[in-house]
Amino acid sequence: MKSYTIALIPGDGIGVPVTDAAWQVLEQVAKTHRFALSATRFPWSCDFYRKTGAMMPPDGIETLRGFDAILLGAVGWPAEVPDSVSLHGLLLPIRKAFVQYANIRPHRLLPGVEGPLKAERFDILCIRENTEGEYAGAGGRVHQGTADEVAVETSIFTRAGVERILRFGFEQARARCGRLASVTKSNAQKYSMVFWDEITAKLAAEYPDVTVTSYHIDAMAARMVMAPESLDVVVASNLFGDILTDLGAAIQGGLGFAASANINPDRSAPSMFEPVHGSAPDIAHLGIANPMAAIWSAAMMLEHLGESEGAKAIMVALERTTARGIGTIPGKHRTDDITAAVLVALGA
Ligand code: NAD
Ligand code: IPM
Ligand code: MN
Repeated sequence: MKSYTIALIPGDGIGVPVTDAAWQVLEQVAKTHRFALSATRFPWSCDFYRKTGAMMPPDGIETLRGFDAILLGAVGWPAEVPDSVSLHGLLLPIRKAFVQYANIRPHRLLPGVEGPLKAERFDILCIRENTEGEYAGAGGRVHQGTADEVAVETSIFTRAGVERILRFGFEQARARCGRLASVTKSNAQKYSMVFWDEITAKLAAEYPDVTVTSYHIDAMAARMVMAPESLDVVVASNLFGDILTDLGAAIQGGLGFAASANINPDRSAPSMFEPVHGSAPDIAHLGIANPMAAIWSAAMMLEHLGESEGAKAIMVALERTTARGIGTIPGKHRTDDITAAVLVALGA
């Protein structure tokens, strides 16, 4: 029997209950699909920061390196720890250290979920560059606190970084409908985004079977609302991809449905699976967080580990659950009831 080691980092706020929900579902699927999962739980979070002065121990990355995959809830509790500290102390270093350069975020409506749009038949796969670009962390502030203050945040785009994410996008497009949308802002950003467009054009010659269209980020935001059915694979830089995927979450019925996979395609280090949403402090103690995004992310984890049948079983269970109207309206059902319904749909 195959066996996988999973690092669980529930994190903050609703990250904790949605990770618990995803784990219950994974344990059930492991039983029915004959593989073994073992979890090691890491309490790294803003609470951990308050106790230790760090979001994770100094050897945190090395500790995670030995796992087959990481399942994360959400990080951030801005009332107590600045986001710039918590996210740069845990989530972002993991993505970078493990070269999880492809962040895959699927956007489609599960049956029974009413999105805000008229269009129901969209199926968009956002591929977000996940290790560089606007998140490079390069910059600084001078003359701090004075009228002459200047803050600089430098985006860093490397040829290797842009080429590998675009290639990943082309491959995904080839495996789906053969359509790729590349998102830039090359009318305003004349270095990095022109560079991105040039690399897109160069790769397009290698993928004659893929139709690639370039969009500016502003036009893409409008298109995702007005004509989402016209899109298939969408590839974007780190920040543009971040924004587009909350928009993607919105058109699929809300952040409670949006899953994501931070993939290291070379498998030289573990990949990480987490919902698109954050810790949701506004509902964190109410017991009403939708666990579906986390459960869907767990299915993406099984797919990555090679347990495709288990992944499919989870997606079918989610679809059966939403088709019964459970978990489709924010706040109507409790986290535990939605999880229980998914477990029943799995045959538990
Ligand atoms: P958020 O995603 O936590 O919440 C935005 C809105 O969506 C809130 O109204 C929230 O209640 C709702 N929502 C989110 N997930 C939901 C779910 N599963 N079910 C029902 N409703 C849900 O975004 P935010 O408020 O901007 O961020 C809160 C904290 O989380 C911040 O510290 C932020 O930096 C952090 N954050 C972390 C991650 C991550 O760890 N991957 C992602 C986004 C935000
Ligand atoms: C996401 C989140 C993170 C990001 C934040 C919390 C740093 O918004 O995973 O989408 O911007 O990548
Ligand atoms: Mn985001």
